[in-house]
Amino acid sequence: MKRISRRAFLSRSLTVAGGGLLIGSGIACAQPERTHLDPAPAARICRATQSDIEGPYFRAGAPERTTLVDRNTEGARIRLSGTVTDRACQPLQTTIDFWHADHLGAYDAVGFSFRTRVQTDADGRYSIDTIIPGRYLNGSAYRPAHIHAKIRAGGRELTTQLYFPDDPHNARDPWFGEDRLVELSGEDARFAFVV
Ligand SMILES: [Fe+2]
Repeated sequence: MKRISRRAFLSRSLTVAGGGLLIGSGIACAQPERTHLDPAPAARICRATQSDIEGPYFRAGAPERTTLVDRNTEGARIRLSGTVTDRACQPLQTTIDFWHADHLGAYDAVGFSFRTRVQTDADGRYSIDTIIPGRYLNGSAYRPAHIHAKIRAGGRELTTQLYFPDDPHNARDPWFGEDRLVELSGEDARFAFVV
């Protein structure tokens, strides 16, 4: 029978897997202390929303409002809502300019129909009641339904366009990007901007 020394026996008895220690008759797991070599928790990163052309129809000075429709408005109603955050995923209190065409694809060049400025709240949330815009000819091809947006925040400006799933003109549009598709469920359309 192999004999081991008292010192070796005590050493084996006190050491357990994972670096914990058995102390006395009770069991106390001593967690390894964190050192400066341990990796820090991963920082959250939100990918910036892709910019897009402003187009020729932006007009500054739109009224602040969250409802762009009334009972006489034609077109498929949607509530477009979501958030604005920075690239560290922190909410931004800021202003968004939204503008888009009516249900026939025409922009209001003299008034502010389907144009608004909306404030985000302390959680970066926004919401507007509007319609899915109509399509319009750009040269020989129709542009897909889209909503323009402009956000100035944190010393940066984001000008972009939001698109709708399953629009047959998305694929051929030179500015369309899948990363700017709204999540559409019934009348609920959602998009999270990252500036
Ligand atoms: Fe447009």
